[in-house]
Amino acid sequence: MEPIIEVRNLTKIFKSRGRTITAVNDVSFDVFKGEIFGMIGPNGAGKSTTFSVLTTLLKPTTGSVKVAGFDVEKEDDKIRPLIGIVPQKLSLYPLLTARENLELMGNLYNVPKKVMEERIDNYLRLVGLETSADRFTGGFSGGMKQRLSVISAVIHDPEILFWDEPSTGLDPQTRQAIWRLARKFNAEGKTLIFTTHYMEEADNLCDRVAVMNLGKIVALDNPESLKEKTRGKNLEEVFIHFTGEEVRD
Ligand SMILES: Nc1ncnc2c1ncn2[C@@H]1O[C@H](COP(=O)(O)OP(=O)(O)O)[C@@H](O)[C@H]1O
Ligand SMILES: [Mg+2]
Repeated sequence: MEPIIEVRNLTKIFKSRGRTITAVNDVSFDVFKGEIFGMIGPNGAGKSTTFSVLTTLLKPTTGSVKVAGFDVEKEDDKIRPLIGIVPQKLSLYPLLTARENLELMGNLYNVPKKVMEERIDNYLRLVGLETSADRFTGGFSGGMKQRLSVISAVIHDPEILFWDEPSTGLDPQTRQAIWRLARKFNAEGKTLIFTTHYMEEADNLCDRVAVMNLGKIVALDNPESLKEKTRGKNLEEVFIHFTGEEVRD
């Protein structure tokens, strides 16, 4: 299998108010082209920080990361057009309509106008937002916002999708809609890397799952093997096996 992301000894340290926080601690892994790769782990494990480095938003403190063969530090401009990001905190403009939000993203990525308008119409229909296209997104429900965020991150037809907690806080219908989108984009050949707190979601969707704890990857395999290795009935038990029962804040 061909790696599309290569992470080698990645460490990310934050210094804030005199404190040093090692958010990601000497992590190495590959993501293969065309797979659905999940990252699970308690709050503060380092999932979002890893995403930020992989998506060129933060520089590694030490170690190296290649995305589609390009170095995240030296060739970030080559990586950005190839990736689509759904951040943990929504990044829509509330005073723009759904369509305007999508056009803004398309224009940022220089998508030709005709192609962009066709894609926008298709995607709005795909996620059931065609009749809300001209409403301000500030008034959208959480599920509508998230469906819009997901399609706004594919408007430039990226190869690799990064979704950070795409289904947190959403109703089961919206979560299932997100799962369908994940499968659809994956079937089109896109690689998807996502984080989740829903173990069932990771189990259903992922080819492989990385378990993160305290800045380290403590397990990485397909869901079935993880269950076998830990004698877990389900991924929730696997999760507790690797990350303990203590509550994190
Ligand atoms: N910009 C930042 N400055 C300082 N500390 C940060 C910053 N971003 C994240 N952290 C800290 O790094 C650790 C990992 O955070 P994060 O990557 O957001 O974890 P996760 O996404 O797994 O919940 C946490 O202790 C968090 O408080
Ligand atoms: Mg996070």
